[in-house]
Amino acid sequence: MKIGIAADHGGYALKESLVRYLQSRNYDVKDFGAHSLDDQDDYPDFVVPLAKAVASGEVDRGIAVCGSGVGASIAANKVKGVRAALISDPFSARQGVEDDDMNLICLGGRVIGERLAEVFVDGFLNATFSGAERHKRRLAKVANLENQ
Ligand code: RB5
Repeated sequence: MKIGIAADHGGYALKESLVRYLQSRNYDVKDFGAHSLDDQDDYPDFVVPLAKAVASGEVDRGIAVCGSGVGASIAANKVKGVRAALISDPFSARQGVEDDDMNLICLGGRVIGERLAEVFVDGFLNATFSGAERHKRRLAKVANLENQ
């Protein structure tokens, strides 16, 4: 599975830690930056290219980190085909994929620690969309909004 990851300065430290974690688990990781810590950088500059790569299929799943995870989530969901959510518990990390086909997880680098982030990322990456009719019906209603 190819994983894209991105962060601004608020998520930079957690992103660097997650890149090492994912590589140690033999994931193919594409890092969309930031590639150095710059406290003046802006999360859309990194999150939007990541979101576009998820939408196009260049990467299979995305991980976006900013200080709270809120800005990353707002930005990522502007890209057609992206289903992003800010995750702060392990249940939602898994169920967000199983029920809602979440393809990009957002995390708060100033909110959660490295180990908890790894637990959430593991849940996200190990889950698959159930494909249940009721979930497909709901997702179709959401996807329709992208064509209005
Ligand atoms: C940057 O200071 C901070 O606002 C950003 O990382 C993020 O938390 C936005 O949602």
